[in-house]
Amino acid sequence: MKKYFLLALLGMALALNVSAQKPIENAKFHIGDNMEWANPQFDDSSWQTISMTENWDNQGIENNENYGWYRAHITIPKALLNAADQKESIVFDLPKADDAGEAYLNGKLIGKNGQMPTDKGGYRSNWNAVCSYAVSVDDKAINWDGDNVIAYRVYNNGEPGGLFDRGISVRVPNRTDGLEFAFTETTDKKGNPLCNISLVNTYPLTQQGTLTVSVSDPETETALSNATKKMSLAKGKSAVIPVKYDRTKMNSIEVTYTDAKSGLKVAKSYIPKYILTPDAPDSPLFNNAPVYGVRPGSPVIFRFAVSGKRPMKITSDNLPAGLTLEAENGVLTGALAKRGDYTFTVTAENAFGKDTQEFTVKVGDVIALTPPMGWNSWNCWGLSVSQDRVMSSAQALIDKGLADYGYSYINVDDAWEAPERNADGTIATNEKFPDMKGLGDWLHSNGLKFGIYSSPGDLTCGGYLGSIDHERQDAEVYNSWGVDYLKYDWCGYSRKFAHEKSKTVAAYVRPYLLMQQCLRDQPRDIFYSLCQYGMADVWEWGRFVDANSWRTTGDITDTWNSMYSIGFVQQVKVQPYGGPGHWNDPDMLIVGKVGWSSNLRDSRLTPDEQYTHISLWTLLASNMLIGCDISQMDEFTLRLLCNREVNSVNQDVLGVQASRDVKDGAIQIWRRPLADGSYAVGIFNTGTENLKVDFSTYFKELGIKSLKSARDLWRQQDLDPSETTYFIPTHGVKYLKVTY
Ligand code: GAL
Repeated sequence: MKKYFLLALLGMALALNVSAQKPIENAKFHIGDNMEWANPQFDDSSWQTISMTENWDNQGIENNENYGWYRAHITIPKALLNAADQKESIVFDLPKADDAGEAYLNGKLIGKNGQMPTDKGGYRSNWNAVCSYAVSVDDKAINWDGDNVIAYRVYNNGEPGGLFDRGISVRVPNRTDGLEFAFTETTDKKGNPLCNISLVNTYPLTQQGTLTVSVSDPETETALSNATKKMSLAKGKSAVIPVKYDRTKMNSIEVTYTDAKSGLKVAKSYIPKYILTPDAPDSPLFNNAPVYGVRPGSPVIFRFAVSGKRPMKITSDNLPAGLTLEAENGVLTGALAKRGDYTFTVTAENAFGKDTQEFTVKVGDVIALTPPMGWNSWNCWGLSVSQDRVMSSAQALIDKGLADYGYSYINVDDAWEAPERNADGTIATNEKFPDMKGLGDWLHSNGLKFGIYSSPGDLTCGGYLGSIDHERQDAEVYNSWGVDYLKYDWCGYSRKFAHEKSKTVAAYVRPYLLMQQCLRDQPRDIFYSLCQYGMADVWEWGRFVDANSWRTTGDITDTWNSMYSIGFVQQVKVQPYGGPGHWNDPDMLIVGKVGWSSNLRDSRLTPDEQYTHISLWTLLASNMLIGCDISQMDEFTLRLLCNREVNSVNQDVLGVQASRDVKDGAIQIWRRPLADGSYAVGIFNTGTENLKVDFSTYFKELGIKSLKSARDLWRQQDLDPSETTYFIPTHGVKYLKVTY
């Protein structure tokens, strides 16, 4: 008995050994493209050997041809199948291919990610796709227990490129591993929310089992619905199961598939987007900060941000001489030569009611009295930006009502510049931007502001022309186009900087000071946005080059890790440096459809991560530059960005940035004092479990005796200040305005 048990253990260990093969990390490599290289007989002995776990750039390979091939040899032991719950398919776990790849097993294509330029429909990057490909055990391409060649064709479009992330290995998966789940939010015919759960069988076998779907409310821990369904999915087949959910609160959809043959279970859960911001009333409400800074004589361009039904009239009885207010859209223009504060009353009126605002134009040296709000092309379009794409987001900013909540800058990031300057040295646009002045004029006629991008170096990050040795000329051209905002990005300047003998702070400051002087000599105010990723502690000297904001970190991307590191970690030390006219910039927003290219996708942040993102950015008094294509913006994102009480924290005129006052495990509390004597408080749950948090546990640490009032900013609802226990989802927030 004992002996058999030991033997069985030994057998299991052997089987485990076989299935847990060590990945093959090195391969033969050649630049270029030749389909003959897929052939297992091809002689690659003269090729160089490189690793597949790191991009080719990191291995000193400069690949101007963009294509490269990798070839590696692997043995596929038949013994792999012995311990498996199914004996119909095996899976090759392959490295990721940046940007697109095709994997061949002994000459036969077994899988691909993205699309090659020659494919139907053209090139499409899918650089971060997990490349695990299933092959039927009956496939003639497999050479069991013998030598097999995996040839990997890779196409790269823009650095970095090549294979990365892991080596090559083969395993026998569970049969259920072939099921791919996807969740898509939609509505039924009556407009009620539906979540379509789709299941695709990607394995060369038939999947049979049962699927249970349950919807619950994690806050109250109540089940909302439960359903069970029998399924049979042949290879490549899919099924779609629609489930209802409540879009006004957090719902959790749990899906469990149980395989009929093996009893194996696969569980997935999904939180659909839910909307916290209530409907805005039909009657007018002012949403902009009540102040606007302008330099003496510079043009005033300001659009009052007023929500409520149109038509609406926005007027003032006591407008200072020199200013005009266009009534239909509330666009304030003109100029004031003399320094001082000019206060007047603005009234917005429609069929449903009216609202008034005491508004002050402060004529002096400080512009950007509150952080800039608007849009930038980078996080959506990347280098594929065009004038049409800019216009379509600008038009949508107006049509979808974002302008009514204070978003006003429309900023063109990199890739508008022509490859050569004009004969007189002035900068020119490329064919994607036929009329910069026309674009600026159109924006201004709608009360919006126009932003542009350049670098103090020879080239921008995207490889376009920078401003080096042409700073004054460029500033003059920007003025002639009506530019109101310049993002000035270090990038190519690093080449010049490399020759700098002593890399003192003064050396970092120099290129920024130079452009500042050129901008200040223009007869208009140009918001000056420094982008050099926080080098030489830019927050300490940014305001002395009269920068209106400075990026404090490297680029953000739409993942929790990126947002967490930039927002929760790297902003702690810069807290004292932001203030009216001079803001810390933790980079642009990563909500809505982003993609840094023509291929846009939904932000990968969960709904709660997005609430956290916007809450934290408003607390941090940071630039609020939307990074998605506004013309494709959905209702969730719109409500996320257009919550007047949340945005008013960002635009608070005191301009003090929140500090992190509590860090207790997963809980962080960030607090920002506001001009009316109250505080905005974000209680964040940065952990992986939903939590119930009693805020009063932290009162002592925060110097709070008891709360006089508490308001839920997202829901715009007063709360009972004596009830301080809140449900805070994983990666989520309770965002409050309190007095004490
Ligand atoms: C980066 C910058 C990005 C974007 C990009 C354009 O250096 O941080 O925000 O502007 O360059 O190429």
